[in-house]
Amino acid sequence: MIVRGSIIIRYLIHFSFSLLLVFIPQVFAQEEESSCISCHREMGGDLAKPIELWHESIHKKNVISCHNCHGGNSKVQDMDAMNPEAGFVGSPKEEDVPKFCGKCHVAVMENYIKSPHWQTKKEKHPVCTTCHTAHHQQRATLELINEKDCSRCHTYERARKIRFVMEETEGSLVQLDERIEKLRGEGFNTQRLGDALFANRNEFHRLTHVLSVDLIIDRTETIRGDIKKVEKSVGSDEATIKRRKIGGAILIAFLFISAFIIHIYRKTLP
Ligand code: HEC
Ligand code: HEC
Ligand code: HEC
Ligand code: HEC
Ligand code: HEC
Repeated sequence: MIVRGSIIIRYLIHFSFSLLLVFIPQVFAQEEESSCISCHREMGGDLAKPIELWHESIHKKNVISCHNCHGGNSKVQDMDAMNPEAGFVGSPKEEDVPKFCGKCHVAVMENYIKSPHWQTKKEKHPVCTTCHTAHHQQRATLELINEKDCSRCHTYERARKIRFVMEETEGSLVQLDERIEKLRGEGFNTQRLGDALFANRNEFHRLTHVLSVDLIIDRTETIRGDIKKVEKSVGSDEATIKRRKIGGAILIAFLFISAFIIHIYRKTLP
């Protein structure tokens, strides 16, 4: 019972987090160009650079704009748009970046704060923007863990191990996603399966930030169990499709043979 209760709580947390992420873009969806963008474009140089980068980012696609990260009032046309009284925080200092991004990515930040990347006393340590950039964030994949980026401050060995233990599960997540997509194409209602997979994918991707191989292996076991359940449902839906197809083929063959027999029978009539 305790186990089941904690699973339900976990799903509730996932659900409310997803709601938050889905809801925020819709609130700002019908907005015209913000004063932040029009003035900064006019300023040119370094003040305009973030605009181009942001245009190609996943945040732009999800209608997260300058003021959603930096605060301020995007309807005021003068410098007062950047009034701290309107919540303007400007460019965050490095040590403030996790909180700055974490106001939306709550669970990621919680994991990151536990990691040696945050706990370390060393001066050169990565914050969110080191790995994801400040204005050009893309959909996150394991490609972010690579020798070039992860051997700047230490050896690549530990990073390689983390990528290795995550790759197999990542592979089955991608495969399942394709199978669910195919089911949707066949007209199945895949909402529930899609949501279950989405929750798993999110929890799995956030895990990276703790940077503990032991914890990743431990949690991966549970996540794989959940993935197996989704896989079973997908399998049974696929079997239904197969049965329908075979049923359809038998029916067509039956009709064809009947037509043929009637045709022969008619011919033999005087
Ligand atoms: C009327 C023009 C104008 C508008 C409107 C404007 N900015 Fe700026 N912004 C500037 C100028 C000029 C600077 C550089 C001088 C300064 O920092 O005060 C700047 C600086 C900044 C910085 C860097 C500050 C730092 O701490 O280094 C950020 C971030 C920023 N703006 C974001 C915004 C956001 C978000 C909005 C909309 C809510 C906005 N700006 C609206 C002109 C503007
Ligand atoms: C995803 C959150 C996010 C969004 C959206 C965002 N910024 Fe920033 N911005 C940052 C961060 C973080 C920094 C701190 C710089 C760093 O860490 O490299 C920053 C820094 C800046 C600076 C200081 C100069 C620099 O590049 O370091 C300016 C100016 C700026 N942003 C303007 C904008 C404008 C204009 C927009 C809208 C087109 C925008 N930002 C959208 C996160 C964001
Ligand atoms: C105002 C809320 C908000 C802030 C602040 C914010 N983000 Fe996001 N971010 C979103 C939303 C919404 C999405 C798109 C939904 C999703 O895929 O999670 C997103 C997506 C992302 C993704 C891709 C996630 C994926 O599914 O692959 C990354 C990486 C990311 N953000 C990093 C950052 C970083 C780094 C910062 C700080 C510089 C930041 N975000 C600040 C709302 C925000
Ligand atoms: C050392 C590099 C590194 C740092 C620092 C880092 N990330 Fe990530 N992040 C990653 C990698 C790698 C992934 C992809 C994991 C995967 O594909 O399994 C990722 C995934 C993500 C995702 C997608 C998660 C999902 O649910 O799909 C978001 C959002 C994100 N990071 C935001 C942040 C924020 C916010 C911070 C700071 C609090 C941060 N990251 C710090 C490397 C980093
Ligand atoms: C800006 C410097 C920097 C970059 C870039 C960086 N790291 Fe780190 N990393 C650190 C520091 C500092 C520590 C703390 C341990 C220490 O004191 O060396 C650490 C610790 C780690 C640990 C734990 C090591 C252990 O044995 O306990 C792992 C795992 C790790 N990093 C993975 C990564 C991955 C994966 C990437 C690339 C996505 C990355 N790091 C990029 C600075 C960095």
